[in-house]
Amino acid sequence: MQNILSSLGPVTAVIGAQWGDEGKGKVVDMLAERYDIIARACGGANAGHTIVVGAQKHVFHLLPSGCLHPGKTVVLGSGMVIHLPTLLEEIQTLKQARIDIVDRLWIAANAHILLDAHKAVDARQEEQRAQATGEGIGTTKRGIGPAYMEKTGRTGLRMESLLLPEKSLQEALHTQLRHIEELYGIQTDANMEEQNLREARSLLGKRISHDAPAHLAANMSQGKSVLIEGAQGVLLDIDHGTYPYVTSSATTIAGALQGLGIAPQKLTSCIGVAKAYCTRVGAGTFATEADEECQNRLRERGGEYGATTGRPRRCGWLHLPDLNKGAILNGFTHWNITKLDVLDKEESIPVGVGMQDDGTVQWKQMPGWCESTAGITLFEDLPTNAQSYVRFIEEQTGVPAAFIGTGPKREEMITRA
Ligand code: GDP
Ligand code: IMO
Ligand code: MG
Repeated sequence: MQNILSSLGPVTAVIGAQWGDEGKGKVVDMLAERYDIIARACGGANAGHTIVVGAQKHVFHLLPSGCLHPGKTVVLGSGMVIHLPTLLEEIQTLKQARIDIVDRLWIAANAHILLDAHKAVDARQEEQRAQATGEGIGTTKRGIGPAYMEKTGRTGLRMESLLLPEKSLQEALHTQLRHIEELYGIQTDANMEEQNLREARSLLGKRISHDAPAHLAANMSQGKSVLIEGAQGVLLDIDHGTYPYVTSSATTIAGALQGLGIAPQKLTSCIGVAKAYCTRVGAGTFATEADEECQNRLRERGGEYGATTGRPRRCGWLHLPDLNKGAILNGFTHWNITKLDVLDKEESIPVGVGMQDDGTVQWKQMPGWCESTAGITLFEDLPTNAQSYVRFIEEQTGVPAAFIGTGPKREEMITRA
């Protein structure tokens, strides 16, 4: 077990290989102990990463999941869009649990500020799409699309603006709000936004890092290790995902490295996280979506309700072409196959192994194991059919399953040598 952990090297990324919610938070929390710096790179509070430690459940939207470990440096990278009240709330919740992270937090000055106005625009756009087409994208309504539009439109407000003199910050905010009002015809609340920025500045002003990539590089050259926590998943990537039913950021390793300003050759390992089946929350294609009865069963066993919005997740089966796509795009060195235990009662498990000429899924039926795998920590202790299921994924993707989740708790994980 030590072998695999030390073979990951000093710069490891954890990337979702499906439509998000694969269980990235859990493996980041588990690995964080061994790293000095834990970093989020992209996305915003659309993410919901759940960690279960003992009887306590924590859900992080902006802070990286490793922040529960004392003494770790926690980074919010340039590629992020940060809703400051959500960040302050997460910091406050941790404080109530006697975990103070302010002094070990760095926030990239280039990260964008996501305003309440962006959330209002997101909600409005979803309504308009639903009216026009009968269905929206099913966004999390956390303002992600509008915030990235401001960013790529070069009109956004960045974290560095919190360091401006009061009057300049006010002017910058008002210019942005006027722009949003003119463009989208919504009402904004300048007083509330101002208040939010002021509160964030007073707590976090000193934590804004002017050259986050150089800061990270300097730490890495002093021997500090970095664990990168991806958000969302490959199939939600703005370029490579199931467009337009995607998020607005690059969710692959390329996006994560860009979002932190880490050079690609520094990366030593990249763990793809995939459920042993598959889920999606929001609209869009889902080739291996199960029938209603199976969906209900998987949803109840897997607790498949969104960590951010509470929406029931659509459930289905593993689709190997998608995992292969993720492996190509990210160069996965290892899999973390999560939630194997959720399949414990399935007599036969369908796996999508390809697409037929008529566009339908080519299925392979894998025998189930009908035994509990909950909490198992040794691969050899898994029922034979569960071992075969994991080996089949490995053979079909050419990526070793180094980590296999057998329950939501931190310690419910098989780590293979
Ligand atoms: P993330 O967004 O990728 O971090 O994943 P989420 O936290 O949104 O959703 C994953 C859910 O599955 C969470 O409720 C986790 O506690 C839970 N989970 C993670 N790994 C396992 C596992 O191996 N088995 C079971 N039963 N639950 C797991
Ligand atoms: P984590 O990090 C699951 C989905 C939304 C919607 C689409 C666009 O927890 O895996 P957005 O609000 O980003 O504009 O929504 O992307 N989505 C996620 N689904 N997990 C996530 O993050 C997601 N982040 C966004 O449901 O379909
Ligand atoms: Mg999630």
